[in-house]
Amino acid sequence: MLGGKNITWHNSKVNKGDRQRLKGHKSAILWFTGLSGAGKSTVSVEVERQLHMRRINTYILDGDNMRHGLNKNLGFSPEDRKENIRRIGEVSKLFVDAGVVVLSAFISPYQADRNLVRELVDEDEFIEIYVKCSLAECEKRDPKGLYKKARLGEIKQFTGIDAPYEEPVAPELVVETDKQTLDESVQQVISYLEDVGYIKKEYASLEYN
Ligand code: ADX
Repeated sequence: MLGGKNITWHNSKVNKGDRQRLKGHKSAILWFTGLSGAGKSTVSVEVERQLHMRRINTYILDGDNMRHGLNKNLGFSPEDRKENIRRIGEVSKLFVDAGVVVLSAFISPYQADRNLVRELVDEDEFIEIYVKCSLAECEKRDPKGLYKKARLGEIKQFTGIDAPYEEPVAPELVVETDKQTLDESVQQVISYLEDVGYIKKEYASLEYN
């Protein structure tokens, strides 16, 4: 096994629990999965804003952004998508260890790859949010013009066209962006986090001048 030999894990003197206590809240991965154009980035950006206003430490990892840097050597074959999600899973885990609520927004079309990420963290630290939207609606929105290119054969292996998307088997949450307003989808996520005790119902909002 590459990387497994002659390597020793060093423990620090400050652990995840210490960091969470300092910040005053739990940390977790909010994993947004769904078709391109379903609204993963839009919903996660607004959920992050609302969490931030509640003084929750957050960070967004987003497919398009990560593919500009850490994962710029990866394409869209099944193997590359698997590696994309594996790396993001490991990075997300580091954020959880740092005491941060990390919002990871990736198509992540394969259930097996999402399950691998789930297994990296404690049971209550992975919240799979299926951002559900029909292919027809995503194609209608086509915010980046990519569906059009995929239909013309200019982009290969495009999710929903000539590459698969496996719907989550047992997600913690399903938000339906073709049936709800953005605000409704966002509130559904926030309410879930309140109900399971990740965030407090009463909170002191940050004030910006
Ligand atoms: S994933 O399948 O590996 O999880 P990821 O979320 O990182 O995908 O990246 C998806 C984004 O890459 C899309 O939102 C779209 O902008 C862009 N993209 C470019 N080519 C493709 C393709 N063949 N399939 C899906 N998305 C693509």
